[in-house]
Amino acid sequence: MRPELVSPQRVPVSLHDIRISFGGRLIQNEMSFTIEDGEFIAVLGPNGAGKTTLLKLLLGLIRPEAGEIRVFGRKPRRGNPEIGYAPQFRTFDANFAVRARDLVGFGLDGHRWGPGFPSRKRRRLVDEMLEEVRAAEYADAAVGELSGGERQRLSLAQVLIANPGLVLLDEPLANLDIASAQEIIALVGRLCVSRKVAVMFVTHDINPLLQHVDRVLYMANGRSAIGSPETVITRETLSSLYNHPVDVVEAMGKRFVLGVET
Ligand SMILES: Nc1ncnc2c1ncn2[C@@H]1O[C@H](COP(=O)(O)OP(=O)(O)OP(=O)(O)O)[C@@H](O)[C@H]1O
Ligand SMILES: [Mg+2]
Repeated sequence: MRPELVSPQRVPVSLHDIRISFGGRLIQNEMSFTIEDGEFIAVLGPNGAGKTTLLKLLLGLIRPEAGEIRVFGRKPRRGNPEIGYAPQFRTFDANFAVRARDLVGFGLDGHRWGPGFPSRKRRRLVDEMLEEVRAAEYADAAVGELSGGERQRLSLAQVLIANPGLVLLDEPLANLDIASAQEIIALVGRLCVSRKVAVMFVTHDINPLLQHVDRVLYMANGRSAIGSPETVITRETLSSLYNHPVDVVEAMGKRFVLGVET
């Protein structure tokens, strides 16, 4: 049997010995990892650990102080259509009059000049995406009038509609109740499998994601660890990352980290 060749072009993310600092303050040191097609990665760590900064690095918005980064085999560049990005903070004024379906539609052609998709095809794609995130019910509502959770779904739809190969979601569960959070996680998990999208999903609570993620990237104290939740969310790994005694308690299939902010 012939060996299966993996094109370096198709490796969504590879980082080698990355160092990031701001004004002499070290945020990450010697960070190295590779993410494969269709992998679902949870990105964890306390406030200020560098999670958002890592996403900005992949988006080409900031540069590392040292190290090599490749996104689908190329150096990070702004406006890369292969990446879908939902930023951490997105506020809409209560008077934001754009309709939900138009917000999602911007994801299709918001970054392009000139004529986009023919209007019938565009409408179909938007309708399908709204169905997929279960937002069809409020497709014609003004975004400014929607709840935080409803806006999160639209934000996800806007990112996914352009069919990116890598999706960066910065705290997409903020403002969601448990049922909605579970739905979003399950939806993202399905997309990883069905469309082979690689996802980096920043969150502060691993528990709702435990059954869905392939690996966890944990950032803390200028360092990081990557692996299965069973190997990373442990007393040994986290105590070594934080350089401080950390305990991990398992109960009812969940993992609770004690002794530090997460
Ligand atoms: N452009 C910048 N200039 C200076 N410092 C910055 C800049 N961007 C981020 N930082 C600092 O780098 C650190 C990491 O920030 P980052 O936003 O990546 O944290 P985070 O892990 O996303 O935290 P949170 O969970 O609060 O969102 C913070 O201490 C922040 O103040
Ligand atoms: Mg952040």
